[in-house]
Amino acid sequence: MYVCVCHGVTEDRVRQEIAEGAKTPRQVAKGCKAGTDCGSCVRRIQALLGHEGARPCPTARLAARLGLPAHTAAEAA
Ligand code: FES
Repeated sequence: MYVCVCHGVTEDRVRQEIAEGAKTPRQVAKGCKAGTDCGSCVRRIQALLGHEGARPCPTARLAARLGLPAHTAAEAA
């Protein structure tokens, strides 16, 4: 599945960047350019970073700080 349509970057490619040490959307972009054009994919990249145990998106961090349960992809669908 494509995460970044502007640069044709797939979810697997973003996960590869994360596995290789990317911890922020900027670091993911440095490796594969995802998120460097229109920016509409950055939220998805942030979610993947949080899912892979890197830096969670700001909404997830706020929810954790407030003690709210984390949403899963299944709940969002
Ligand atoms: S969809 Fe990723 S920069 Fe546009």
